[in-house]
This record gives sequence, structure tokens and C-alpha cells, in this order.
Amino acid sequence: MGQKLLLKNIDVPGIRYFKTYFENGGYANAAKALKMTTDEILEEVKTSGLRGRGGAGFPTGMKWSFLAKPEGVPRHLVVNADESEPGTFKDRFLMEYIPHLLLEGILISSYCLGSNTSFIYIRGEYAWVAEILEEAIAEAKEAGWLGQNIQGSGYDLEIVVQRGGGAYICGEETALLESLEGKRGNPRLKPPFPAVKGLWGRPTVVNNVETIAAVVPIIEIGGQAYAERGVGRSTGTKLISACGNINKPGVYEIDFDLSVEEFIFSEEYCGGIANGKRLKACIPGGSSVPIVPATLLLTTSDGSPRLMNYESLSEGGFQTGTMLGSGGFIVLDEDQDIVYHTYTLARFYRHESCGQCSPCREGTGWMEKILKRIHEGNGKMSDIDLLWDVQRKIEGNTICPLGDAAAWPVAAAIRHFRDEFEWHIDNPECLVRNYGLADYG
Ligand code: NAI
Ligand code: SF4
Repeated sequence: MGQKLLLKNIDVPGIRYFKTYFENGGYANAAKALKMTTDEILEEVKTSGLRGRGGAGFPTGMKWSFLAKPEGVPRHLVVNADESEPGTFKDRFLMEYIPHLLLEGILISSYCLGSNTSFIYIRGEYAWVAEILEEAIAEAKEAGWLGQNIQGSGYDLEIVVQRGGGAYICGEETALLESLEGKRGNPRLKPPFPAVKGLWGRPTVVNNVETIAAVVPIIEIGGQAYAERGVGRSTGTKLISACGNINKPGVYEIDFDLSVEEFIFSEEYCGGIANGKRLKACIPGGSSVPIVPATLLLTTSDGSPRLMNYESLSEGGFQTGTMLGSGGFIVLDEDQDIVYHTYTLARFYRHESCGQCSPCREGTGWMEKILKRIHEGNGKMSDIDLLWDVQRKIEGNTICPLGDAAAWPVAAAIRHFRDEFEWHIDNPECLVRNYGLADYG
């Protein structure tokens, strides 16, 4: 691992506060950027190859260059901090421990995009993090890094922190914009993309917290150096939140040439499987990406080590691969029951579906019902094919990606662990069904 780009000062005591952040080089890159032209900043971001860190991996520079600039119409940057993907907590970590890194990234990005009012839409459950951000904004304003005529540059910026109401769907960018406008968080049809018609119909860039924070090291080392740090189209570094049956859960900044095996088993990262158990499976990119069994997780189809990057994790498509997604890395040991976990995920997606499209609204309900009966020992062998049919009818037939996100875990669980489903149906007294489940309503 080379020098960390995002977390390099994470161990400095008090780095959360403006004074310490500033004394450790904080806002120097904002000062540098404010002396650059907006085109120069955009060029650095494009050259860096930075891809959206929320899950989709869309090239950030390209998204920024799509931003419409009609005369006299305000533009906005909206930071998506509605981090709700099960297994994902890396944005919380950044905002909680180095809030000024995000604010500095917002300042540089907003200046580049021409936004004078930018927003951080943060999930409601992160109430204490919202307070940390508000304190950091007040500190930055006091020091002249936000507000009117920032550091004499003539550029003005206000940052507004908006708390969500606890709905997962508001992390979908258009639902987020609806919610920010004070409406129910129903996703909009795309196109038009927010870059053309976003908040209150104005051109808007919506980017994830980590994406915007990464703009700071891009300005620091230059887009070219950032791009060279990666592997192929996976450039820079990535924050991974690791959880599940591992010895050292936490947030790690990784290089994209790190092998999955080293990430799970080395002391520097996850420290191996907890309690001396064996690795069974993994969901490497938050609950919306396909689960893969250990054998497919560790090697690609040609037998080489699978790496922690966009291309390597998805090699083989959904037959043998998965996705980097948001970097919410969930590890399952040999004792974990795939049917049980698939059921809990199905309950989650059924509860979080906004209900606008029939395939998602009805399909998530049916998947939950079928999985529940298999889990509770009342399943039939034909339920497995029925479940497969239901998930297929959702995928690709909905307004937003929540439908796909609900279908993919079910498809992958059947594809790779069909024998476990059959075992549950043949063994209705399975002990796992006695576990209590939280009531999602
Ligand atoms: P997407 O692929 O539809 O879009 C990616 C981004 O590119 C969007 O901002 C979109 O506006 C922009 N874009 C794409 N084509 C464009 C064009 N022609 N012109 C202008 N802009 C364009 O994916 P989406 O819906 O943004 O994200 C889905 C991902 O979110 C999933 O892969 C999932 O992993 C992740 N996710 C993350 C969560 C988290 O808590 N971090 C929660 C739920 C899902
Ligand atoms: Fe709502 Fe589901 Fe349709 Fe997304 S896919 S708009 S969550 S019903």
C-alpha cells in the first residue's frame, strides 16, 4: 500500500477540528484550486479517472462535463451522504472523523461546477454525524473557507446539511432530490439526468461523499498521478467497510491491486475469519451486489487472484463474478445460513421499495413470502424455481435500481447455493428458523 490519500491523517489527534486539519495541510488544496480555472480543475478530475464511489462507478469527470449551464440558472452540487446500503459505513467514517476533508472537497468541486449553494443530504440515522458536519461548517465559515468572497477569491459558497427521514430509497439520486425539495422520495424516470434537470429543475451534480473527498488528493497530486496509482479503469484508492465474520471489522483504504485473499486474511486488513472458522461466501459491495462463494471470490475464471477493483471483482459477469459496488464488504463464515440471509435481505428490500413500479412493489413482496416459507420449514421444491422466476421479472423492469438490487441477491443465492435451498426444504426442522428477526413492519 502506498501512502494513503484519504485517510493519511486519520490518526492525528483532533483532526476532526478545523485548527488541526488546517495545521496538517488542510485547505491548502482548496487554496490551490481557487487559483486555477474551473476548466483546469475539470481537466484534472477527468484525467484522474475518478469513478463514483457510491456504487455505480460512473466517471466523475464525465458527469461533471455533462452539467448543463443555461444562462442565469443556478447550478448545485448535492453530496449524497444517505449511506444506507447494508454493510456500507465508509462515508460515515469519513464524515465523522475528517469532516473538513469532505468540506474541502465540496469547496473545490462547487467552485469547479459553479455552485454557490451546495447540499449534503445525510441519512437521518446519522444524527450525530450531521451535528459534526454542522460544527465543521461553522468552523470553516469562521475561518473564511466558506461564505462570501472565500479567501478573497470572489467566490461565494454556502453548504446546507439536510437530514433524511430514514428511507433507503432516498439514497437513489432522483429520490434524494425529490426529498430535498420537500416531497416524498419517489425516484424520477431518467433521462433527464440531474446534470440537466436536477434540484428544482436546475442542473445538479449528485456525487457520493467519498467521491467528493477524493477531489482533494486529486488536486494535491494531480490527475495523472492519481490515475497512475490504480489498475486500468480503477484509479486512485478506495475505502472499504469490512464487516461480518472477520477478526478486524473496520474501514480500510485500499489500493486496487490488492488481492481479495490478502484483504480478508492479512493482519493489515480483516485479519482472517473470526473464531478459526472457514470462509464460506462474501458480498463485497454492499447488499445490492451478488453474493459469491469463497472459491469464486478468491480467483478469476483463469485461476489468477481476484483483486479488489471494479473490473476484477466483476470478471465473469454474474455467472462467476460480483461487483465492487459501494465497498461494503460482508464476509460470511461456514456457519452462515444463505437462505436465512437471503430472506433478511428480501425483507429489507420489500420494506424499502417505494411502491411506484409493480414489478418491484409486488415482486419484492413475493420474494419475501417465498423465502419466509422456505426459511420457516414450509417450502416446496417448486418454490426455488418460482423464486427464480419472480426475481427475473423484476430485473431491468423498474424505474430505479432498487428493483435490480432486490433481485440480484436472490438470483445469486439460488445460482450458487441451490443445494442449501433444497436442504432447507428437505429439513424443515432447521435450527436457524428459530432465530429472531427484527420487525421491519
Ligand atoms: P446509475 O448507473 O444509473 O448512474 C450513475 C450516475 O451517473 C448517476 O449520477 C447518473 O445521473 C449519472 N449518469 C449516467 N448516465 C448519464 C448521462 N448520460 N448523463 C448524465 N449523467 C449520467 O446508478 P445510480 O442509480 O446512481 O446508482 C446505483 C448504485 O448505487 C448501485 O450500483 C448500488 O451499488 C449503489 N447504492 C449505494 C448505496 C449506498 O449507500 N452507498 C445505497 C444503494 C445503492
Ligand atoms: Fe420504487 Fe422499486 Fe420502482 Fe425504485 S424500482 S421506483 S424503489 S418501486
